[in-house]
Amino acid sequence: MKIKSAEFVMSNSDVAKCPNQAIPEYAFIGRSNVGKSSLINMLTGRKSLAKTSGRPGKTQLINHFIINKNWYLVDLPGYGYARVSKSSKKTFQKFITNYFEQRKQLVSAFVLVDIRHKPQPIDLEFMQYLGMKQIPFSIIFTKADKLKPKAIENHVNAYCDDLLQFWEELPQYFVTSSSKKIGKDAVLEFIDATNTEIEQLRQDV
Ligand code: GTP
Ligand code: MG
Repeated sequence: MKIKSAEFVMSNSDVAKCPNQAIPEYAFIGRSNVGKSSLINMLTGRKSLAKTSGRPGKTQLINHFIINKNWYLVDLPGYGYARVSKSSKKTFQKFITNYFEQRKQLVSAFVLVDIRHKPQPIDLEFMQYLGMKQIPFSIIFTKADKLKPKAIENHVNAYCDDLLQFWEELPQYFVTSSSKKIGKDAVLEFIDATNTEIEQLRQDV
């Protein structure tokens, strides 16, 4: 998919005030500093569409971006930054869970995980939460530039093996690097294919 336009729409902490156009929406979630905002910039080819920072906790609100005037990308605050979270549950902020439970336009979430790390309890907990709420999600491994190709393969395989202890079936996953622009086409193709499917379902009704 070619990105012809990508524009910031609004920031919100209240899901009820998010844009109300009935168009497909994709949300990026994961631990603080995992690279959600950077990935949005990489996917859209806009250097500073979403605000990024080396310090965790940069994104504090639900941020909507409209892409090609017909679907939304959503940048969300991170969860579970170790320094502030003793009980991981508390770090799923209420307005984030409200977002996932109430946002009708949400088609699919992307759970971002740092490719260098083993599955973290808080990520597993969030995936479990999405499963329970029947919200479709894929996994995006970030910062692949930090590992050599062989290590990428080993880390992804180990991560998937661990996930199979909790899940019967693995979700779709993508290996990405925002700094090296790895994984852009695969993620955009997935979104494009999903949008096409939705469009067809709409026409069948
Ligand atoms: P919060 O908004 O705080 O939750 O963080 P975030 O998940 O949006 O992360 P952000 O995109 O702000 O990036 C955090 C840090 O990781 C920044 O210093 C980025 O430059 C760095 N980073 C993000 N993606 C990559 C990547 O693919 N490779 C490398 N090497 N660094 C990355
Ligand atoms: Mg961010």
